[in-house]
Amino acid sequence: MAARPQITIVGAGLMGSGIAASAALAGHPVKLYDTAAGKAANAATAAASHLRQLAAGGLASEAEAARAAARIACDADLPHALAGAFWVIEAITENLPAKQALFRDIERHIAPEVLLTSNTSGLRISEIAAGLRHPERAATTHFWFPGHLVPLVEVVMGEGTREETATELRRVLLSWGKAPVIVRRDLPGQLANRILQAIIREASAIVDSGLASAADVDTSVKLGMGLRFPAWGPLEHVDTVGIDLCLSVQDTVLPSLYNEPRATPLMRKLADEGRKGVAAGQGFHDWTRRDHAALVAERDRFLLNALRLLGLGRPPSAGEEAPASDLAEA
Ligand SMILES: NC(=O)c1ccc[n+]([C@@H]2O[C@H](COP(=O)([O-])OP(=O)(O)OC[C@H]3O[C@@H](n4cnc5c(N)ncnc54)[C@H](O)[C@@H]3O)[C@@H](O)[C@H]2O)c1
Repeated sequence: MAARPQITIVGAGLMGSGIAASAALAGHPVKLYDTAAGKAANAATAAASHLRQLAAGGLASEAEAARAAARIACDADLPHALAGAFWVIEAITENLPAKQALFRDIERHIAPEVLLTSNTSGLRISEIAAGLRHPERAATTHFWFPGHLVPLVEVVMGEGTREETATELRRVLLSWGKAPVIVRRDLPGQLANRILQAIIREASAIVDSGLASAADVDTSVKLGMGLRFPAWGPLEHVDTVGIDLCLSVQDTVLPSLYNEPRATPLMRKLADEGRKGVAAGQGFHDWTRRDHAALVAERDRFLLNALRLLGLGRPPSAGEEAPASDLAEA
């Protein structure tokens, strides 16, 4: 594998470790920096474990996974960690003032052409990058969790992001075997979370109204539309069925959906009663009777199999086309 330039990840938590694994598997030397003692070392250990999981799932050989793990280093000194990076990925806690201050600090130590991105799930990159001298090289790169398994990365352009920045990020991410999408406006929910939140709102409204149980809602998404989604997007579905037929279904169904610009009363009630989900033992489901660890293992097993089928999740081999044919349309 040809030598790749260094990536520095600032914020070595849950997301930092997954991103580090993907970057290292693609051949980049990776530096991990975190302000909390021991966090970077823990993230390097977690990344090595992610890489072993990718190898066990057939996405890399054991030797490739070991070589990738050896590319990941920790650095307790921020300027030193940043030196030599061609791309700095911020993955610290979701806090606007902290991200703004960090971006300004990072910029003091890197050249104007170095890419600087945030993994923020919900904050606007225009605001995170507001104090930069060179906001044109900044963007959001929103890796989905788990970062080493989910191919989607939303590249969100802020008000100051240069077109070439988004194009370059997309090019690099494709070379990792990721599925980058470019989001041209800096709105809440970016792209995919806007769709997911609409699904969650309707799913919880269906339970709230007594139309179906939480278990049956999850089954209908997981084993109906969800199962075909990796090969069959909603707009491909519309075009296949025909726009006129879909229009008539929309005219019939949309007026009866939950259309309030807020979460359902059931979600508020669950939160107010402390039934906050897995950690509390209760949420939509009773987690004292269900095995959450087994569900996570099943999710990861499914994702690994899907990645192999789709030819994603690892750098494409030399001469191989970008696996999903329509990625180039972006
Ligand atoms: N967890 C998810 O499912 C998920 C998914 C996508 C995006 N995100 C986003 O990714 C980012 C990181 O999330 P996470 O779940 O990995 O968080 P995390 O809490 O697991 O890790 C954050 C790390 O940042 C460190 N940190 C805090 N301030 C710092 C600073 N100034 N400099 C260096 N390190 C600092 C913390 O010590 C911690 O180790 C957030 O913006 C989050 O919204 C999270």
